[in-house]
Amino acid sequence: EKAGYKHFMLKEIYEQPRAVADTISGNLPWFRGEMPIKGLGNFKPERIQIVACGTSYYAGLVGKFYFENFARIPTEVDYASEYRYRNPVVNENTLIIAITQSGETADTLAAMRLAKERKAKVLTVCNVIGSSATRESDAVLYTYAGPEISVASTKAFTTQLTVLYLLSIHFAVRKNLISNPDIYLEKISEIPSLMEQFLEEEKKKQEVKNLADRFHKVSNALYLGRHVNYPIALEGALKLKEISYIHAEGYPAGEMKHGPIALIDENMPVVTIATKGRVYEKILSNLAEVKSRKGITITVTNESCKEVIENSDFSIIVPETDEFLSPLINVIPLQLLAYYIADFLGYDVDQPRNLAKSVTVE
Ligand code: F6R
Repeated sequence: EKAGYKHFMLKEIYEQPRAVADTISGNLPWFRGEMPIKGLGNFKPERIQIVACGTSYYAGLVGKFYFENFARIPTEVDYASEYRYRNPVVNENTLIIAITQSGETADTLAAMRLAKERKAKVLTVCNVIGSSATRESDAVLYTYAGPEISVASTKAFTTQLTVLYLLSIHFAVRKNLISNPDIYLEKISEIPSLMEQFLEEEKKKQEVKNLADRFHKVSNALYLGRHVNYPIALEGALKLKEISYIHAEGYPAGEMKHGPIALIDENMPVVTIATKGRVYEKILSNLAEVKSRKGITITVTNESCKEVIENSDFSIIVPETDEFLSPLINVIPLQLLAYYIADFLGYDVDQPRNLAKSVTVE
């Protein structure tokens, strides 16, 4: 069942090229305009509210960049457990996007129900056909990740990003903000082979393993990112926490000097996502801040980012891609790092303590 992999998590990390490719092709009919999104019709949202939990919530945070940047639709992202108790401003012009791998998360279902009562349109991005969330929403877009067995979510996340990206372009086309969606389709269609490039290179895997070997005994770690890669820093930290039980915090790199920089000393590993994009120079100066406080700098970066590599104690080189799609690539080394650290520590990677695959109680 694990197809030769030691754990489901590792197998699922390696399935991501296939999962993303299937998610693109599964959603092509509406993306190409060959058929409408069932249940959404011609609905033009004035606003979007994304509700989700955990890793799915982080996918939502990346989605906000997509909907705002491409479709110019104001987008909020809420933890479902917060949304349901905060008396949100929501009406019939609001699109609620519930993101849920399982489709059974209690808080996400409750948030959807609240929005529905207030006449919002509800669209679910889901991985499980026929799950509660899919039955209770106006429209459903599926991720084609296939069954995710490992408690720690990996391939569900990258396929959620895929759907959110395609949907944002779709809305942009409908608002006449984008006239050639094929350009965007081409860009995302390159992602599976870029993922593969990274995953199939034995040397890369060994680099991540070496890092895991070196750092599995730490008790804290900081993850930094900016712009679309800020949520990836959060996701990297969550992966480490949940399977290796090491305290990790994700932070927007620009916020460092407002507090967390006080934590940095020669014992603090700081994992920074520093790939090409509009915030590249900014991240570079954040990296220098860490370095000057003797923090251990570990970066996820591109081959052409010489200044980053020079300022890093360790760097993991990932293939360069469009900055908005870089989260789909950049998250992979962070998933692997958490995986190998947990494995070094001898923990039950697929069944971490205190966690359940789907959280059906509040
Ligand atoms: C993290 C993880 C959880 C889930 C969260 C939401 O690796 O698996 O944080 O992402 O419980 O689950 P779904 O997406 O099923 O609603």
